[in-house]
Amino acid sequence: MEKELELLKENLQMELKNCTKEADCLNVKSKYVGKKSRIMELLASLKDMSVEEKRQYGSLINTTKKELENIVSEALENLENKVEVNFDDTVDYEVESGSLHPVTIIAKEVTDALKKMGFTIVSGPEMDSEYYNFEALNIPKDHPARDMQDTYYLDNDKLLRTHTSGVQVRAMEKYGAPLRICVPGRVFRNEDLDASHENTFFQLEGMVIDKNISIENLIGVMQELLREVFHKDVKVRLRPGFFPFTEPSYELDCSCLICDGKGCPTCKNSGWIELVPGGMIHPNVLKAGGIDPNVYNGFAFGLGLTRLAMMKYKINDIRVLNSGDVRYLEKFRID
Ligand code: DAH
Repeated sequence: MEKELELLKENLQMELKNCTKEADCLNVKSKYVGKKSRIMELLASLKDMSVEEKRQYGSLINTTKKELENIVSEALENLENKVEVNFDDTVDYEVESGSLHPVTIIAKEVTDALKKMGFTIVSGPEMDSEYYNFEALNIPKDHPARDMQDTYYLDNDKLLRTHTSGVQVRAMEKYGAPLRICVPGRVFRNEDLDASHENTFFQLEGMVIDKNISIENLIGVMQELLREVFHKDVKVRLRPGFFPFTEPSYELDCSCLICDGKGCPTCKNSGWIELVPGGMIHPNVLKAGGIDPNVYNGFAFGLGLTRLAMMKYKINDIRVLNSGDVRYLEKFRID
């Protein structure tokens, strides 16, 4: 018996040595440890053995089975790690390298700038609950403010997030205060498509929670951010705004870099682009996140990453960005 078991191991190893493909390995595996293999036969025969024999062979057969299995998995693993390189150096290869999508480039620039200011990058789900997308942000069910964002509701009681703001309360719950985060991500709205509206676009949520935060901190962060991204001081203006989750709320516009403020389809001939809405976080939102609004306060903003990419790269039609048209997209190559 001992000899036979030893032989089984040796034969298995030998056969595996000749396997160059996973499929061959698997065939050998089934021959040696499959249902109809010799080791299985031996295992099954245990029940007919005398107590004496069982004692003598039981554990030996079992350990051999394990050993056989280990030998096979090791061989399979080795095969996986072996990368086959077929390199024909007589052929003159022209290697085409890909390029990053303009939104990816801008997201990196913005998050790099924010990281310098102490922000951490976090993320959240694209399919979210009504609670995080609306309720936790002080937008109750049936509140007219929900109509500000035409939403894709799903059959499973969830929705495609309409903004990255849903991560605000998620992050508060997870990390508590003080907090300094940014959340780049894809968002969805049932928009009528035109040169500046798409149903899928990218935002970056920013949020700072600490003691004694003021709107000046927010303006400072915004100015620094735009300076880093555009490598110059960008003209901005502030207008009062309304968002249920900030109080006070505001809109920060920057002068349209496509037409230099003269007026074009992208800026709807106004010369300004609505770029960064934001405000001081509403106490109800802090409470929803388990943070005491009497101790902490903070600001939040929702930067339109897609819009920022259009500004920076002078793209006058948003639809190009989701088009997958490489001829156009690869123009934004950064080497
Ligand atoms: N979530 C808003 C939107 O998509 C943008 C926004 C406004 C985000 C104000 C904020 C904020 O964090 O404070 O329209």
